[in-house]
Amino acid sequence: MSGRQVHTMTTLKDGGAASDRITLPASELPTHWYNALADLPFRLSPPISPATGQPVTFDELRRIFPPQLIEQEMSGERFVEVPTPVLEILSMWRPTPLVRARRLERALGTPARIYFKHEGVSPAGSHKPNTAVPQAYFNKLAGIERLTTETGAGQWGSALAFATRLLGMTCRVYMVRVSYEQKPYRRTFMRLFGAEVFPSPSPHTASGREILAGDPDCPGSLGIAISEAVEEAAGRDDTNYALGSVLNHVLLHQTVIGLETRKQLAMVGEKADFLYGCHGGGSNFGGLALPFLPNILAGEPIKAIAVEPASCPTLTQGRFTFDYGDTAKLTPIVRMFTLGHDFVPPPSHAGGLRYHGAAPLLSALLDAGMVGAEAVAQADVFRAAQLFITAEGIVPAPESAHAIAAVVRKAVELREEGREATIVFSLSGHGIFDLGAYEAFLDGTLADTADPTHGIEVSLDHLPRVEQRP
Ligand SMILES: Cc1ncc(COP(=O)(O)O)c(C=O)c1O
Repeated sequence: MSGRQVHTMTTLKDGGAASDRITLPASELPTHWYNALADLPFRLSPPISPATGQPVTFDELRRIFPPQLIEQEMSGERFVEVPTPVLEILSMWRPTPLVRARRLERALGTPARIYFKHEGVSPAGSHKPNTAVPQAYFNKLAGIERLTTETGAGQWGSALAFATRLLGMTCRVYMVRVSYEQKPYRRTFMRLFGAEVFPSPSPHTASGREILAGDPDCPGSLGIAISEAVEEAAGRDDTNYALGSVLNHVLLHQTVIGLETRKQLAMVGEKADFLYGCHGGGSNFGGLALPFLPNILAGEPIKAIAVEPASCPTLTQGRFTFDYGDTAKLTPIVRMFTLGHDFVPPPSHAGGLRYHGAAPLLSALLDAGMVGAEAVAQADVFRAAQLFITAEGIVPAPESAHAIAAVVRKAVELREEGREATIVFSLSGHGIFDLGAYEAFLDGTLADTADPTHGIEVSLDHLPRVEQRP
């Protein structure tokens, strides 16, 4: 069945009564990931080893990653083939639908056409399995049977628990304490797949013990949970580490989102003017936006905007410099937008966005003005989420609702200007495990998050000194 036939079956013109879901047949699942590194008009700074102060070597990375993922991290190939066993698992829920949010448009009275790419339909409930599956697969190929990882919202931990189980591996998840307490059913979900889940900071690692000694009530952060997971993986031969965001290979795997979106937009004769994705470490936003990079580089007026919480404003208030990816300084030092590796963001209901850094690839694009960034406040996020729920019937993850808040802001602006435009955003996950946060919103007890400015200033004083290389 060709893409054209599918288009006529599933979408009708404005005013039509049929579905606004634009679906691709299984045969259109991307067989290759798009590697944006091949098209960058500049070189990224190499990651620096925290042990030697020199560019990190393949052998150093081998302590926690399998060879194929290290190769993908540095690859200059424009397209990287998706292995057949990975395609088979991805096809359990992909291609995901692109949906015209016509009821949201009506509710806003906007002339904008709004589409969302629904990544919440995956088994774990978000975009995260797009990379959990290939990461587990390449580790398995390298003879690794066990993975450790961090999780903020619980979505990444759920995705890795699902992927490792399918591939006959095991997994241990360090879950940021505040989310561990807010979302008990996320823990249950991971445990159903056989994963072990610990609140982080935990007494199981030296990094966790050190933090707990200084602050027994520490709410945790992704930076701390990463330290714990990396420490454990580096200390065991049978165990590797898997990261849910930030790294080039993670963004590479997530490009299935944007690659499918491109085809789906073409099916309905649309071109994106605005692309929005919430941003924690960058894998969701990058997954949607990077496949449009060739258009952006060719001068097409596409605005790709990463949306982050005002309580953890890495891209809008951070510094573009060298920093560690984790709190205990175990990971390589990379050049990225950062709030400082020991910044502990105020607790919020978007655990997946509480990260001090950002993907180096996206940081460089932001610095070069090729993508943009906006911050949104928690109260606006939940108001926008409720509007979306009542219009479209889907409960978004609070992380994803950050993008919705920015989209609503843009759609209203376009209404005021009387201007049409096509807006596409990634609905990166569903919020069925986040009903506690929604309950607080409905009860009026959702406090606005604390002002992070002072913490950021203090933390930016602790950045590592790295000699700038040409
Ligand atoms: C639903 C959802 N969206 C977005 C994110 C943010 O991560 P990233 O920036 O890597 O996409 C998370 C992280 O846990 C998430 O759970």
